[in-house]
Amino acid sequence: MASIVTARRLQKRYGRFEAVRSIDFDVEEGRCFAFLGPNGAGKSSTIRMICCQSPISSGTLTVFGEPADPHAIRIKRQMGVVAQEDYLDRELTVEENLVLHGRFYGLSGGEARERGRELLTFMQLDTKSHNRVKELSGGMRRRLVIARGLIGRPRLLVLDEPTTGLDPQARLLVWTRLRELRQSGVTLIVTTHYMEEAARLADHVVVMDQGRILEAGSPSELVERIAGREAVDVWGLDEAVVTNHIGSLGRVQARGDSLAVLTNRAEAVVNLLNTGPMRPERMQVRPASLEDVFLLLTGKDLRE
Ligand SMILES: Nc1ncnc2c1ncn2[C@@H]1O[C@H](COP(=O)(O)OP(=O)(O)OP(=O)(O)O)[C@@H](O)[C@H]1O
Ligand SMILES: [Mg+2]
Repeated sequence: MASIVTARRLQKRYGRFEAVRSIDFDVEEGRCFAFLGPNGAGKSSTIRMICCQSPISSGTLTVFGEPADPHAIRIKRQMGVVAQEDYLDRELTVEENLVLHGRFYGLSGGEARERGRELLTFMQLDTKSHNRVKELSGGMRRRLVIARGLIGRPRLLVLDEPTTGLDPQARLLVWTRLRELRQSGVTLIVTTHYMEEAARLADHVVVMDQGRILEAGSPSELVERIAGREAVDVWGLDEAVVTNHIGSLGRVQARGDSLAVLTNRAEAVVNLLNTGPMRPERMQVRPASLEDVFLLLTGKDLRE
């Protein structure tokens, strides 16, 4: 499979601060690639370099075989961008925003209006086309930004937290649309804080923290390798007590008001804790998930 984006020892510095620290990755054409990581991990910094919005500091980064650079107009014309901030013109209507954006991709006013209508239908915004952007709700604006990212029929669509702030229905709509795009051959690069979103959409995931890539793989492979098969959530017991008690049956991690025991033998863990000297208030067995992988790799503490 051909790589559409290739990064080698890629770095981003802001002054002396290193936001992206020598990362390597390859995005294969036609796939969905996800960057996960806590706040400040360097996801948006990486995305902005891929989108040719900010220059790389060192290493190499190619998109469609060409070096990514803010002047790389040929790259930009084949790419749709859904940035973390929306950059919509609030005084203009929904349609005007789309038409204006279409110009950049070389569409005439008529072509952009027609394509805009299709996209508003695609994102279930057709009734809003003559409203000013300032009259839209936050979720509608987000859907408009996704529609706008598609106006130039991009070969590569890059989305930085596309569903942040969307209600569950809108999120399902976006997932459906992104899957359709991927099936039609569009390559997707996304960042998200919703692990379910990454698990559903992505073929390949990288987990970043403090500018470095910690792990990479398919969602199911990462879950199996890092978290194991199952998790037992435990309420009402101390981390040290559970750790001592279960020994080598699993790995324990504190999770706010509960503990998670990652294990391949959930039944044995439950039996052991139910017959121990101190009983839990409550337990729940569930399949291990990408959320467990994320928390195991990046820890449970908040980033500054
Ligand atoms: N323009 C900038 N100037 C200086 N520092 C910056 C700039 N943009 C980002 N940073 C810093 O770089 C680091 C990475 O930021 P980045 O926005 O890439 O993180 P992120 O992974 O996208 O986080 P989030 O999940 O919160 O969106 C942070 O410490 C941030 O403060
Ligand atoms: Mg970000």
